[in-house]
Amino acid sequence: MRRSRIAGVGSYLPARIVTNAELAARMETSDDWIRQRTGIGQRHIAAEGETTSMLALKAAEAALAHAGLTAQDIDLIVLATATPDYTFPSTATQVQAALGITHGAAFDVAAVCSGFVYALTVADKFIASGSNKRALVIGAETFSRILDWEDRTTAVLFGDGAGAVVLEAVEGKGDASDTGVLTTHLRSDGRHRAKLYVDGGPSTTGTVGHLRMEGREVFKHAVGMITDVIVDAFAATGFSAETIDWFVPHQANQRIITASADKLGIPMEKVVLTVDRHGNTSAASIPLAFDAAVRDGRIQRGDVVLVEAMGGGFTWGSALFRF
Ligand code: ACO
Repeated sequence: MRRSRIAGVGSYLPARIVTNAELAARMETSDDWIRQRTGIGQRHIAAEGETTSMLALKAAEAALAHAGLTAQDIDLIVLATATPDYTFPSTATQVQAALGITHGAAFDVAAVCSGFVYALTVADKFIASGSNKRALVIGAETFSRILDWEDRTTAVLFGDGAGAVVLEAVEGKGDASDTGVLTTHLRSDGRHRAKLYVDGGPSTTGTVGHLRMEGREVFKHAVGMITDVIVDAFAATGFSAETIDWFVPHQANQRIITASADKLGIPMEKVVLTVDRHGNTSAASIPLAFDAAVRDGRIQRGDVVLVEAMGGGFTWGSALFRF
């Protein structure tokens, strides 16, 4: 059975760090409030003129270097973002051009915070079908550009960044001992639009718009949706909270992560947390956290890793892979 293994991982964060204290000087909030409610201590913010495709390019280059591959080895780019450089062409094609790739295909997927899980799922299926050999899967965002900086209920939550993995076709036995992506589960329910959305777009207002969120409503749905798709991943593979090595959740909010881990019986020692340093970077958060734990030596080759995300739409999903 054809599987897609993660040949390399990389990430990039803009240089500028904005602390909670800096936000508290600009709006009515406090380090205490932000930390207690979300676990966030700081976030990175892109420089003026630094676009989503620029962040994505740096993450992609790091992932290629980690894999020991060059851009010419890649025949598919799937990029998840809700903050593209332009309405069109896709941010993926900008990254493709910057990497000097003129073969294969590149396209974006839109699933907001679940974007990386969606992009990983799509690329895995392209590889499993035999149509592509090596894919760059990228999550990249500049959420600072769609925040209403006058709205303290949302402005304190998000940050900018990018993460990427290289997926490569390998032959497996078709069971849970294989290396690579072992299962993916995607869900969505568009009835929840008003709870988390951007109030602009080309076909409605003709503007970019700002992020709007009913935080409590999102929180209320998050834990149940996340645990549902993780139960699906466990059922499909035979793995459990006890037998996975690592849980790399979407980094939206420490309280959502802790509540989900508790409900599933996943001990916090297995949970990779970067929300304190990165804030919520939407589609970039999982590959950023995964890369951090690979680089610091926690996640090793052969480890079984569970990822999940939930975001605007609502969209949600999980993936389970052996690294
Ligand atoms: N600083 C200080 N006070 C604030 C701030 C702030 N930044 N923001 C809101 N408050 C105030 C409110 O005005 C309110 O004041 P009031 O009681 O006088 O009316 C009080 O704090 C409590 O507000 P709530 O919204 O009820 O606070 P809550 O405990 O629900 O926390 C939060 C808000 C952190 C947004 C929470 O609801 C949450 O985490 N929701 C999940 C949303 C999320 O993570 N979304 C990310 C995108 S989706 C995803 O990635 C899964």
